[in-house]
Amino acid sequence: MTALPAIPELVAGRDDMRAFFADRPVLVTGGAGFIGSNLARALVGLGAKVTVLDSMSPSYGGNAFNLHDVVGELRFIEGDICDARETNQLVRDFDCVFNMIGQVSHVDSMEDPLTDLRTNVVTHVHLLEGLRKHRPDAKIVFAGTRGQYGRTEGLVDESARIAPIDVNGVNKHAGESYHFVYARAYGLRVTSLRLTNTYGPRHTMRTARQGVFAWFVRQALDGQEIRLFGGGDQLRDCNHVSDVVAALLLAMVSPAADGEVFNLGSKQPISLAEIASTIVTQAGTGSVTKVPYPPHLKSIEIGDYVGDYTKAQRVLDWQPRIELAPGVSDTVEFYRAHRDHYWTREIYP
Ligand SMILES: NC(=O)c1ccc[n+]([C@@H]2O[C@H](COP(=O)([O-])OP(=O)(O)OC[C@H]3O[C@@H](n4cnc5c(N)ncnc54)[C@H](O)[C@@H]3O)[C@@H](O)[C@H]2O)c1
Repeated sequence: MTALPAIPELVAGRDDMRAFFADRPVLVTGGAGFIGSNLARALVGLGAKVTVLDSMSPSYGGNAFNLHDVVGELRFIEGDICDARETNQLVRDFDCVFNMIGQVSHVDSMEDPLTDLRTNVVTHVHLLEGLRKHRPDAKIVFAGTRGQYGRTEGLVDESARIAPIDVNGVNKHAGESYHFVYARAYGLRVTSLRLTNTYGPRHTMRTARQGVFAWFVRQALDGQEIRLFGGGDQLRDCNHVSDVVAALLLAMVSPAADGEVFNLGSKQPISLAEIASTIVTQAGTGSVTKVPYPPHLKSIEIGDYVGDYTKAQRVLDWQPRIELAPGVSDTVEFYRAHRDHYWTREIYP
């Protein structure tokens, strides 16, 4: 299968999207990371004047290769959003900000809660302070997470109880809450999408801690055994990153999304075991085995999660388009072709 196009199918044919973004200065914070880079590429395709700010910290998903072929078509700034002077200067140019900064590892958040606090909360306060002072007319789209809900039962809509079970979930909810406080107090326009497991090209592959899906792909392509903790019966509703990018773009252009939170989700929840076997089948290498749950991970395992995305469907006209098999195929082929830029012993041992 050929790679999916940079502009998601859901928005590619929409004149209103092209009209909104054409020649528009747009800031993508965390734009060299997984979701941010896929978003930046789509924005370039839509004709926006894209600026990417990314700290390129080796702990996170920022990777120069993610933007290597569009770097001449956007402005790339390597910098930390917590540098208040630079951030205050930078944000003056934008009324359109996609805030994709974050730390995604649940395990790391438990082992180093203060770093998680900095990356998932303090960063956002710096951005919001800059916008409050210099661009209170700005709209920000924020990437929240299903982790804000904690353990759930049945279909989860946006009214579900917020009860995170790990430090990451607490900090992600605090980060989102800051955005809405600044919206209410200072008039910034804010939308948060609570993302579920997102997979696809340009995710970091350095560690198992930052995304189980990506790690399974790496193991399969390396011909290794994928170890499923606790049997792999847990249900997930995975979104291909192209569907997530579509939702982010739709949220930005929709005035009805201002001040709102939206869950994303998939048409068909699927078990981790099924995800692993689909990856192994598509890769043609690797295998799957079931092992008992390590005790230190059991306490932060959320169990099943199935998001109700009917609000996003109704308000944003969004729905997931990419089924698991073609999505996995796109992902596996991307890493098969570009593995050296994501994991080699020389670069990322
Ligand atoms: N990937 C998922 O499955 C998933 C699920 C739910 C929510 N999210 C959220 O989506 C957002 C993006 O996640 P991702 O998977 O693309 O992660 P990622 O690590 O690939 O991207 C985050 C980027 O933020 C940058 N960054 C971190 N601290 C910074 C700072 N101080 N200044 C400037 N840049 C900084 C990193 O260098 C990195 O490139 C995060 O907020 C994450 O919590 C992701």
